[in-house]
Amino acid sequence: MKRVTTRTLMRMKQEQEPIAMITAYDYPTAKIAEEAGADILLVGDSLGMVVLGYDSTIPVTLEDMLHHTKAVTRGASRAMVVADMPFMTAHLSGDETLRAAARLMQEGGAYGVKLEGGETVLSNVERLVSAGIPVMGHLGLTPQSVNQLGGYRIQGRDEQAARKLLEDAKRLEEAGVFSLVLECVPEELAQLVTEQLSVPVIGIGAGRHCDGQVLVYHDLLAIPGGWHPSFVKVYREAGRVMREGISEYVREVKERRFPEEGHFTRVTGEWLTDLYGGKKEKETNETH
Ligand code: KIV
Repeated sequence: MKRVTTRTLMRMKQEQEPIAMITAYDYPTAKIAEEAGADILLVGDSLGMVVLGYDSTIPVTLEDMLHHTKAVTRGASRAMVVADMPFMTAHLSGDETLRAAARLMQEGGAYGVKLEGGETVLSNVERLVSAGIPVMGHLGLTPQSVNQLGGYRIQGRDEQAARKLLEDAKRLEEAGVFSLVLECVPEELAQLVTEQLSVPVIGIGAGRHCDGQVLVYHDLLAIPGGWHPSFVKVYREAGRVMREGISEYVREVKERRFPEEGHFTRVTGEWLTDLYGGKKEKETNETH
């Protein structure tokens, strides 16, 4: 299978083939998502909430992102892996932003980076793009600004905000982003942005008309840590299945029903009697 590249995504937009993106945070989540056919694996800084247990993405560091990006790239051979630039790293000096993005690609193995914001990050987007780094933009609800936004709420609901978002989207495209995530904006606005941009627009809580969709792994599989806002569809109760499996294991251990025949090996021999100081008559079990 050929790797998904920026060209693949452009072709998909032109041919109106929907793009499926999902977050992944480690080797098994990357493997499962890729085997399931996802086109893009986003190492989202949402990992701060769903994997590390923080109450926002703000505490996530570049080292955290590198650690998880390395694990995801080891589990992906076809899907494009995009790593989030964590809090503030897109707002530093051009050199520092470039260094952070370069680490995510060089050490983490990411194909490209995603960063939140419009006007304020344009010069850094240009800087990264001119250095050959594929950049995905992110507008609408930008979780790293949650304290400024006053919570996780729909963005672009009035004319002024909608115009500003459309303007930012166009400027990001001019600055060279290869794709744009639109989070929590009304469907009409997302449709307009999708129609006006030539690069693929990936929506989350942005309605049906984007070029693709993204969801958080833990949300769509109802794994503890995930959230359940109205725009999330839960496809499987994986968290429940995991909990049931582990409860059964714990119960069987407590009741000495695990391990059973077939879960261990045996040895026999005279030497066992010696090993047991003559006390062991015949045979014993050796577990692995
Ligand atoms: O961090 C993340 O998971 C994201 C997606 C919600 C788009 O940015």
